[in-house]
Amino acid sequence: MQTKAVTGKFYEANVDSIAVAVFKDEKPTSGYLKELDNLTGGLIDSIFKTEKFSGEEGETAFLRIIPKGKLKASRILLVGVGEKKEYRTPNVAFLAGTAARFLRDRNIPSFVLVPRLEDAPVREVAANAVQGVITGLFELDKYKTANKDKKANIETLAVAIEGANKKEMEEGFERGKIIGESINFTRDLANEPPNILTPTEMAKRAEAMAKEVGLECKILDEADMRKLGMGSLLSVAAGSEEPPKLIVLKYKPKKSTSRKDEMLAFVGKGITFDTGGISLKPAEGMEAMKYDMTGGATVLGIMRSVALLKPSVPVLGVVAATENMPSGKATRPSDVVRAMNGKTIEILNTDAEGRLILADAIAYAEKQGATHIVDLATLTGAVIIALGNINTGIMGNDQDFINQIIECGKETGEKYWQLPIGKEYSKMIKSDIADVKNIGPARKAGTIIGAVFIQEFVDKAKWAHLDIAGTAWADEPSPHQAKGPTGVCIKSLLRLVEKFQNSTKG
Ligand code: BES
Ligand code: ZN
Ligand code: ZN
Repeated sequence: MQTKAVTGKFYEANVDSIAVAVFKDEKPTSGYLKELDNLTGGLIDSIFKTEKFSGEEGETAFLRIIPKGKLKASRILLVGVGEKKEYRTPNVAFLAGTAARFLRDRNIPSFVLVPRLEDAPVREVAANAVQGVITGLFELDKYKTANKDKKANIETLAVAIEGANKKEMEEGFERGKIIGESINFTRDLANEPPNILTPTEMAKRAEAMAKEVGLECKILDEADMRKLGMGSLLSVAAGSEEPPKLIVLKYKPKKSTSRKDEMLAFVGKGITFDTGGISLKPAEGMEAMKYDMTGGATVLGIMRSVALLKPSVPVLGVVAATENMPSGKATRPSDVVRAMNGKTIEILNTDAEGRLILADAIAYAEKQGATHIVDLATLTGAVIIALGNINTGIMGNDQDFINQIIECGKETGEKYWQLPIGKEYSKMIKSDIADVKNIGPARKAGTIIGAVFIQEFVDKAKWAHLDIAGTAWADEPSPHQAKGPTGVCIKSLLRLVEKFQNSTKG
């Protein structure tokens, strides 16, 4: 896709369509809409009246026109963006995705996007526009051999910001492309069927990506894990014919500005399929458990972006990849295993496996020098009950670190909601015969129990746990995005990396 910065009048762009943001309850009596209304001889005003277009977020109205005068395009798409006072840079990505999907579905290959966010930094607006189009166009059709309805793609995206600096816009485009493609990289991995994306294949894809973007990559195999004493991770892999892999990616800046000894790490749950193991899941809905590696895929997407955006701080990425299968070799409920940090675990439910693999992956990250750890996991069904598909659950051992992530979410349009942890909850995972057990009392605080279990394997690091089970995929398509994996948390955690960089500068 070609990108063009339009810094003059938006309607002078030589494209097939104009796509313009419209605020809730706005009327075409001034500004951009008035201009468009004049250029079309009052058509915009008539659309508002006859179609009762109200500017609700995601609402669209489309009109074909005969271009005349300075107006080059022969179509206009009005895209609702909701309340003007709530309209920020992340909304531009929704706007762009909605416009791109709408026009692509009608075989319209080029458009100029008019985001109408004059007061925001040009780079950010431009980045969100390009990212929104790239993620908006992602589809689940990789394995369709004859996709008859496959539409032409968007070939040219122009973004209009009157009076903007072209160079800043182009820098924004580049950033948006990196982030958008990284989000799609994650979504593509998450979407892969589990017979194709085995732990070995996931490691191969990580290696290939690392080579392409210039990251250090190391893959630990079963023998390495055994040497390191990762009995917890290995207990999950025990039932599977597929060998587990620990994927380790390192980004080292040319010149680091990070405070001595500080290192941020992202650790992901990479269960390529979760049957539940001996504590077998019911058949209904089990297919969704191919997504149980999305935390890991998200870490890979973040690392891809980091390598290309080149911040001045080091970043570590660790993904524990394995299947969770039942077999004669599988772990039994009541087995006791020893994790890398020496703690013993009584496994009472083999379906609570995410926390078991994260226990060793986090201990490993800390051994590599991580001082700030964010883990990402589709960890509990309970978080879906608590927060639905809207908020990612966040918990951790350092309130400032948690606040920072929540703030990064606000800045990038991703919602987090904190749940409490504490010693009352930690007591609930005391085992009769080992240090801890991997579940708490039935149906009580399931998401929190997952977090306090993981906490047992964090030593000195500041740590935040993100339970993305509700937010990692969408059951239905929305105007700006296909159904399936969402790529959630990538934008906010890239912002975290940048904050880290700025706070340690100088
Ligand atoms: N992968 C699941 C959690 C999950 C459930 C993610 C639904 C997305 C949708 C996880 O491994 C799991 O099975 N957790 C159990 C924990 C329980 C046994 C304590 C759960 O949530 O039921
Ligand atoms: Zn499970
Ligand atoms: Zn799982």
